[in-house]
Amino acid sequence: MTGVNDIRSTFLDYFSKNSHEVVESGPLVPRNDPTLMFANAGMNQFKNVFTGLEKRDYSRATTAQKVVRAGGKHNDLDNVGYTARHHTFFEMLGNFSFGDYFKDRAIELAWNLITKEYGLNKDRLLVTVFSEDQEAFDLWKKIAGLPESKIIKIPTSDNFWSMGDTGPCGPCSEIFYDHGDHIWGGPPGSPEEDGDRFVEIWNLVFMQYEQTGEGRIDLPRPSIDTGMGIERIAAVLQGVHDNYDIDLFRALISASEQATGVEAEGAAKNSHRVIADHLRSTSFLIADGVLPSNEGRGYVLRRIMRRGMRHAHLLGARDPLMYKLVPSLIREMGRSYPELGRAEALITETLKLEETRFRKTLERGLGLLDTATADLTEGGQLDGETAFKLYDTYGFPLDLTQDALRARNISVDTAGFNTAMERQKAEARAAWSGSGEAATETVWFALKEKAGATDFLGYETEIAEGIVTGLVADGAEVDKLTAGQDGVIILNQTPFYGESGGQVGDAGTMTADGIRIEVKDVQKKADGLFIHLVTIVEGAVALNQPLELKVDHARRSAIRSNHSATHLVHEALREVLGTHVAQKGSMVSPERLRFDFSHPKPLSDDELAVVEKYANEIVLQNAPVDTRLMAVDDAIEAGAMALFGEKYGDEVRVVSMGTALHGSKAGKPYSLELCGGTHVKRTGDIGLVTVVSEGAVAAGVRRVEALTGAEARAYLDGQDKRMKELASILKTGMADVPARVAQLVEDRRRLEKELADAKKKLAMGGGAGGDAASTVKTIGEYKLLGRVVEGINAKDLKGMADEAKTQLGSGVVVLISTDDAGKASIVTAVTKDLTEKVSAVDLVRIGSEALGGRGGGGRPDMAQAGGPDGSKADDAIKAIEAHLGA
Ligand code: ALA
Repeated sequence: MTGVNDIRSTFLDYFSKNSHEVVESGPLVPRNDPTLMFANAGMNQFKNVFTGLEKRDYSRATTAQKVVRAGGKHNDLDNVGYTARHHTFFEMLGNFSFGDYFKDRAIELAWNLITKEYGLNKDRLLVTVFSEDQEAFDLWKKIAGLPESKIIKIPTSDNFWSMGDTGPCGPCSEIFYDHGDHIWGGPPGSPEEDGDRFVEIWNLVFMQYEQTGEGRIDLPRPSIDTGMGIERIAAVLQGVHDNYDIDLFRALISASEQATGVEAEGAAKNSHRVIADHLRSTSFLIADGVLPSNEGRGYVLRRIMRRGMRHAHLLGARDPLMYKLVPSLIREMGRSYPELGRAEALITETLKLEETRFRKTLERGLGLLDTATADLTEGGQLDGETAFKLYDTYGFPLDLTQDALRARNISVDTAGFNTAMERQKAEARAAWSGSGEAATETVWFALKEKAGATDFLGYETEIAEGIVTGLVADGAEVDKLTAGQDGVIILNQTPFYGESGGQVGDAGTMTADGIRIEVKDVQKKADGLFIHLVTIVEGAVALNQPLELKVDHARRSAIRSNHSATHLVHEALREVLGTHVAQKGSMVSPERLRFDFSHPKPLSDDELAVVEKYANEIVLQNAPVDTRLMAVDDAIEAGAMALFGEKYGDEVRVVSMGTALHGSKAGKPYSLELCGGTHVKRTGDIGLVTVVSEGAVAAGVRRVEALTGAEARAYLDGQDKRMKELASILKTGMADVPARVAQLVEDRRRLEKELADAKKKLAMGGGAGGDAASTVKTIGEYKLLGRVVEGINAKDLKGMADEAKTQLGSGVVVLISTDDAGKASIVTAVTKDLTEKVSAVDLVRIGSEALGGRGGGGRPDMAQAGGPDGSKADDAIKAIEAHLGA
């Protein structure tokens, strides 16, 4: 028959016709199960449906599930490449009944599929049952008509399937295919069962129990979980005995033959197989959000990648190779797994980067390995110190070293390796405890060492489960946190973002039966430990407690928008002001974003408007936001903006968005930044960017603040409302408000002037009726106009004094104005003809003294002063009169 793609669709169509919901493969990093490193069976995503915790609107399902068995309970890494049927990645076809049908129907469905749809020869088939399961034995006899000799009772755990140490489990029944007596091997249960003649093709698990920490309990209703490795059934259907001879692997191996120019024969065959297998696991893991690192899942990925790379090296490849094979993989599997195509750039670049970096030490490490093992013969052992040095200095995972020595049958002293590893940890511990970190910081290092770095799942998901690996209250480790208590929770994995790169930590909830916890903030400590600052609302939480983790979605969405918008504002500022604009700091919260940058002067309103316009142009592009992993140097060379002086790891996430519309960058990516933050999927998710303020932070550093999405709308709504209020007060249309306000300002200026003039007139004797002359006295040889007025400002007093001088022709003027606060201003003036005899400066001094003030100043013809005591205004005039009369 047919290729892998047809086999897959035949399976899914068959179960679909039999009333099963066709469900997509769950991700390789399980969201709902913190006990699993990677998805290891089709049933993982349904775990809680089996146990009754979760309800779905179907009770039968079928899937083609991506599986990685390289770490955790099921680990096949060491054998891959050397056997016919081991893979680090494979696809498991399955059908599931959640309390719907049970054994009889499961057997009937399976039998019909393989004998009718797939057309397998019944004579080649045999089955096993758990020895205590007589019912299954009888059903096989009845339904399949198999002779008793072909229904083999197995008493061991081989026929009791469990997902891991905990979870749903039950007796199982396996279907075997006999490849024929030209291949060595015996039926299951026989002494020759390890031979390759009889191959298990399908496992039917009669799920009946749940294994908990305390023991085994019954599932609410008996259920069915089956798993058929697609590579094995494909081998049978394609008449080959070896999984690596099926169409899919032939295509991948032929791509690697072409790329290396080495045929898949002899020892090279193993290497090609390793490369083909590892290409699959690597690409699928990266597509599901795992990136190479030195911890947890990322380290398993790195181990797989490097193992593949050594084999590429064995084939003589001196340049990165695996990344070149990605298109072949996508051609083979991309239709069924579109995530591969979506992540193609990320997969390619991650592989290329890892290959480029590892190549630098690979050859030197292999050289060291050769020297260290030169004297060893078959059956010998490499010392642990050297294995550790290879690990620590040359980046050789232990299994790579073991794999490299496999052909010569040399083992590695793993105990010695572990001792060397422990010693290094102890040294590191001594270093940080001696580095003067505060006691509260020391606790994080200790926890990091015990629990390892936290696996961050939050780029992919906002909901996950985690297991409590550490608890802290008042700066010290504790076993338990109880209701009402504040403290810190550490988990093996988390979707909560820890504050970094200007982005605030996530908030949300953690729950379990009887436990409710509020997560208020999350911080990062000790290089990769996520600490969740919590309040226990209900119940008590102890170590090893599994918890449902849920990030506050609305809050995280707002943060995402603000973070992506920060990148757009940054680029827009560079576009408008110039490339001297460099980030000096940023703060991204759910409410707003703040961006500090170098620029020597305030931004004009026009500049700000253009910044806003440019940022919103990219929002309207609704362009996908793309994240890739790159080497720092490559990223910076590609033009990614990095924070000067910031410490980055060797590899960095590079976030790009939008297409530039203006200037020399037009057509190229708009924003390209090194960034570990969380971002929107498409720029359109930002909704809208509104700059709300601009100001100075320090010399040469400006700050803009902006809002996005709902906050931006609320802000603009507020502006709009105020505008409408204004229009209504002004009784005009909104468009006319500025002209009306300008008119009002102008009117006011005119009215103020008119009012001042009127007051002056009034002061000088009252408008039309009076004139200044009526209050003129003659003192000795001088005519004196002395008057106390109210509410005239000092500046106007001088003008009035000038006018009065003109009216007098010759004489002295004294004007005192008092204000609301009771203070006085005094102006004295002397006409030119008299200034030789009497000085306005002397007069103002006399007057101001009487007003309780001192001094004053001016010229002989006009002087001015003030005084605190306006009630003495008449006395001041009298004092001046007395002086003139003397
Ligand atoms: N869950 C079962 C297996 O993985 C079907 O073999």
